[in-house]
Amino acid sequence: MAREAKNFDHLLGGKAKGLSDTQLNAHFTLYKGYVNKLNEIQTKLGTADRSAPNYSFNEYSELRRREPVAFNGTVLHEMYFGALGDGSTSASAAVKAVFEKSFGSFDAWLADTKACLMSAHGWTTLVYDYESGKLLNNLVHGEHHSGNFANVHVMAAFDAWEHAYFFDYQTGKAKYVENLLGGIDWSVIEKRFAEARLVG
Ligand SMILES: [Fe+2]
Repeated sequence: MAREAKNFDHLLGGKAKGLSDTQLNAHFTLYKGYVNKLNEIQTKLGTADRSAPNYSFNEYSELRRREPVAFNGTVLHEMYFGALGDGSTSASAAVKAVFEKSFGSFDAWLADTKACLMSAHGWTTLVYDYESGKLLNNLVHGEHHSGNFANVHVMAAFDAWEHAYFFDYQTGKAKYVENLLGGIDWSVIEKRFAEARLVG
């Protein structure tokens, strides 16, 4: 069954800190493109010939290689838009305690996330590492289907590809990052932490 793009229009009208409607609408269009491609790939995979897979080129092989691009492009954007806010929420004491255990302090996480986003050409994700029971910052290098940590659960996704901010900020990436992190909807993050049983 085809996957439907989620609607994030509730962010329009100044509800996402520092992001104009023009910027957001352009980004929504890009996100919907990933959803459409994911559906296209998965539909073709339904009937693709599996008899001659090949590393260099084969239709089935190529569909499988590109599937994570569309899949992660879809999922990460949904996590990114899902936690954008206007800056009116703040991290609770319980949420801050989770960051403290993993990064030493909430502010240390914030500083590290800024540094990751300024280092990355695209995504930085906050992930939960089942092995250590701690949160990690994952600077996703290369295309977004590569460079992801294994055996982790994505708790938050931060998009610093130029398409996410260039209309509003041009080369002022640091200001975008500042507003992005200042506008996180902490009620969403706390809900994700609760689902992972990181907070009670
Ligand atoms: Fe994006």
